[in-house]
Formats: sequence, C-alpha cells, structure tokens
Amino acid sequence: MTRSYRFPEGFLWGAATSAYQIEGSPLADGAGPSIWERFAHTPGMMVGGDTGDIACDHYRRYKDDVQLMKALGLHGYRFSIAWARVLPEGTGRVNEKGLDFYKRLVDELLENGIAPNATLFHWDMPAALDDRGGWLNRDSAHWFAEYAEVMFKALDGRVQRWATLNEPWVVTDGGYLHGALAPGHRSKYEAPIAAHNLMRASGAGIQAYRAHGKHEIGVVFNIEPKYPHSQSADDLAATRRAHAYMNEQFADPALLGSYPPELKEIFGEAWPDFPADDFKLTRQKVDFVGINYYTRAVVKHDPNQYPLKASPVRQANKTYTETGWEVFEQGLTDTLTWFKDRYGDIPLYITENGSAFYDPPVAEGEVLDDPLRTGYLRKHLRALHKAIEAGVNLKGYYAWSLLDNLEWSLGFSKRFGLYHVDFATQKRTPKATAKLYARVIESNGAVLDD
Ligand code: BGC
Repeated sequence: MTRSYRFPEGFLWGAATSAYQIEGSPLADGAGPSIWERFAHTPGMMVGGDTGDIACDHYRRYKDDVQLMKALGLHGYRFSIAWARVLPEGTGRVNEKGLDFYKRLVDELLENGIAPNATLFHWDMPAALDDRGGWLNRDSAHWFAEYAEVMFKALDGRVQRWATLNEPWVVTDGGYLHGALAPGHRSKYEAPIAAHNLMRASGAGIQAYRAHGKHEIGVVFNIEPKYPHSQSADDLAATRRAHAYMNEQFADPALLGSYPPELKEIFGEAWPDFPADDFKLTRQKVDFVGINYYTRAVVKHDPNQYPLKASPVRQANKTYTETGWEVFEQGLTDTLTWFKDRYGDIPLYITENGSAFYDPPVAEGEVLDDPLRTGYLRKHLRALHKAIEAGVNLKGYYAWSLLDNLEWSLGFSKRFGLYHVDFATQKRTPKATAKLYARVIESNGAVLDD
C-alpha cells in the first residue's frame, strides 16, 4: 500500500546558515572582531588552518545566494546576525554599516518572496565582551538584551520570526568545558555558569522582544536523544545523565524554570547554587522552539569519561556521516514526541537537520550526485511526517545547510550543503539533494510517497 507523505497545509520549508560560517569579510565596514575571528586566527585551533575570512563570501554575494534559495522554492531562510558587525564593542555604539548589511539581506529576501528568520546569537560573541568575561559575566544577559533590542527596532516587522540563541549546549560544552570551540576554555567550573548565563540572556532577549517586537520569538536547542546500551542500572543511569546534560540542561530552565537533578551529580562541587530569582528570567513564554536534530547516541557507563561518566557506543552495521554521526531517523520522531510530552504543546520547528558526506572539492557538471545525503534527507523527512501524525505541533523544517560552509573548528573539510561550494572559485553547484528538496517543497512532501 502506498503511504502518503503530504505535509499539513502551510508547512514551512526552509534552509539555514550562520554568519561566521558563510559571510566572510568578518572585519569589513567597521565590524569588531568576534571570538571566532580570534580563535580561527590562533595556530592549531582549526583543521587545515581554515578561517572565516572568506568562507562563502556571502557578505558580498548575498544577492546571488538569495537566487539559489529562490531556485529551491524556499519559504523561509534562517540566518544569524553577527553581533560584532552591529555593535563592534558588543554594547554601546551601533555600527550602521554593519546593520545595513542585514537590512539589505532582509529586503532582498522579501523581494524574492522568502521569509527572513533571524537568529541573534549563533556563537560569534564580540571579542570585546569576551574580554569582559564573556558568558561567565552575569552582565552578559543585559549585553545580549541591549543588542537584541537594537535588532528588533531595526528589523521587526520585516523579520517576523526571531530566535535568541542557537544551541547553547555547544557553546558551553565546546567553548567552556572541552575547549574545542571558541573561546577554547576547559573548565567544569565555568561550563555551568556559562550555560546558566546563556539561558538568562535568552530570557532577557525575550523580555526585550515583548516590549518592542510584534511577531514571534523563540530559542533553538540541539536535541540528541540518548538510548541505553544495555538495561543495566549503570547504563540506564549514564543515559539519564547524558540526556540531562545535553538536552534538559537548556530546555528545562527555559520551559520549566528548573534544572534536572542529574546536573549536580555530574558537576559535583562545580555545580553552583543559582539564585531562585534567576529562573523567573530564564522561563519566558516562547512562541516556538527550534530543534536541531542530527543524530542519536547509544550510551554506556564509563567511569573514565569526564565529567559525565558516560560514553557513546558505536553501532555495528549502521551508516555514519563524515562527522561521525549515526544516521538514525527514528531519533527525530522520538525527539519530537519526547519534547511534546515533557514541555507541552509548544509550536516546534526543526531549525537544522542535515548531513556531511564526502563531496569532491571541485564539482563537475550541472548537478553533483550525493546519494548518501539524499538518502538522509528522504529518511528524515519521512520520520518528521511520522511525528506530525503522532500529534506533534510541527510548523516547519529548515535544512542544514543552504551551502557548504565553515564547519567551525573542522574548517571546510565537512560539507553539509544543498549547494556545493568550490572554495577556490566560489562557484556554487546544486547537489542532487537540492533537486530532491526542491521537489519536496513543490509537492509539499508528496514526492516522498512510497
Ligand atoms: C550548528 C551548525 C553546525 C551544524 C553541523 C549545529 O551544531 O548549529 O552551526 O554547522 O550543527 O555540525
């Protein structure tokens, strides 16, 4: 029997990027340096010595890139704003030229019938604020709200869907606990403080929106479901810890106003006693939550793993992407139903989903065949449809990513794009996945029927 994958009327089909990963020209037109600018220019931090100096040169080629979006038939485009372009010192003086770039981008999108969806913080904190302690400073919540207000005043009305933060877990785990991402700290004493201040900042940004904004605001979490390696008490407890650490540590303060008890167990004496009042700030009404889903983890107890005492177990006979992530589409359905059960019926978007598989640096021909990525997209869209059938209030999907881009400290070595980018010439070539996605959008999912 054929199964229909037609999505609900009005379902939003989009694609996502982020500023430092695609824009290039990070210091142009009076922009201040960000922590990623500094990190990328520190020897040994980036694979291949890659930097965001040019990236996809989107800062100069944004009009052409909007045409690529139009060719896909996108309804929405999720991009991020580089805080240090707008406020070079992070607070205070507004750099009108930096702001102008986003005004021009938004105008171009609207003229082409594509809804602009802006994320305020996708990891590139102004370096000047890092010098003042970055996310370890409690004032960071006010710095963020000040910046957010500048953006709401400049663009609300034209940008009708905002997100405060992208993936605070990655910022704290990579940036403050393990040091693989900017600002490159390694401290279990700092990580929970940075995490907490990020969620205070998100709350302060939402409050500022209620005073100035007229449309929708939410926050974006990466959710990676955790499954136990065995039913032993040790593995089950390790799975709980991993889940609390990665998923609930951020969604709970935002949506429930508390932290799960496992965090104290994980961080021990490094877990601070946060003032009760803080949770009034972290818990603000959101209009939606964005979920970024890539993979799952199967977890086992591992006393040597710091500080979680839990580690992932590689699965036999499964496909893994170039970033080492298992292709596991059922996890997307499970994530969405779990989220609804725990946090209630909040409108949800998948704000990122995609896969890095090997593509050659130079694309020959008009379309680059990328069968593994095409398979990943098809499977995950079907899994998404299952979640809608199970009653999840899912409003849209953004593919990660529009373009191959700078995969943070992995440089240009990992390609997630719907469009291939030849980084030597900046030539864009659609991959077969882009072609499939365009047909999905045109048929509202019907092309996935089997
Ligand atoms: C981030 C993106 C990143 C992608 C693939 C997410 O963690 O939001 O910036 O490129 O996943 O790793």
